[in-house]
Amino acid sequence: MKIDIKESFIKTRKAGSIAAGALDEVEKIIKPGITTAKIDRLCYDYINDHDAYSAPLFYRGFPKSCCTSTNHVVCHGIPADKILREGDILNVDVTAYKDGWHGDTSRMFQVGKTSVKAKKLIETTYEAMMKAIKILKENIFLGDIGSTIQEHVESKGFSVVQDFCGHGIGQDFHKAPNVLHYGKKGTGEKLKAGMIFTIEPMINAGKYETKILNDGWTAVTKDKSLSAQFEHTVGITKDGYEIFTESKN
Ligand code: MF3
Ligand code: CO
Ligand code: CO
Repeated sequence: MKIDIKESFIKTRKAGSIAAGALDEVEKIIKPGITTAKIDRLCYDYINDHDAYSAPLFYRGFPKSCCTSTNHVVCHGIPADKILREGDILNVDVTAYKDGWHGDTSRMFQVGKTSVKAKKLIETTYEAMMKAIKILKENIFLGDIGSTIQEHVESKGFSVVQDFCGHGIGQDFHKAPNVLHYGKKGTGEKLKAGMIFTIEPMINAGKYETKILNDGWTAVTKDKSLSAQFEHTVGITKDGYEIFTESKN
């Protein structure tokens, strides 16, 4: 069945705005002393109150409604009774499923005062994602995205995680293509108007290698260095792009 581009964009816009709205609410409660379980509850409630589902909940056995990845956790951290402390940095990743479509987004949050190094890492990660988004339009290559991110990140002395990537998204949470955050210009698939996918670079202050903890989900940096990530869901148009998960603030 062929799906109308207009319909897919309208529905992803809706799902994306709910996901972004949840993160806007998370922003308001971040402070030393709260638990990541509290963030999870807030995301669960916000998404339900907007007549949507939290896509991560029970996805391949994932037990919570969002991912909370603190300090050296790269991604897929599981919300728990862990208390956030002054100086922590964390990524919160939410995905809303609304009227059959997904919107997936994540942001970094800083708990109280954080180090200069942490701030620089977060800033560089955000810049890398936005630089890649700004080149998007029909007929550029998937590899142009990865090379734009890698070039910026490495110029600042940080490294790009290779074990996880962005992904096509729509009626399925994760689908083709894989969107690598490193690579060479002019390589890979050509982008077509109507494509919808995520860009979600994970950037490490140290080496790029990761490992998965015994819970089967939590990915951490092997060298225990800090890691940061941002994620937007984007759609390709003839002459550019649309970001579906922008903050309303
Ligand atoms: N939101 C994550 C992504 O960006 C995926 C989380 S899957 C989960 O693709 F099961 F860990 F929630
Ligand atoms: Co996500
Ligand atoms: Co994603």
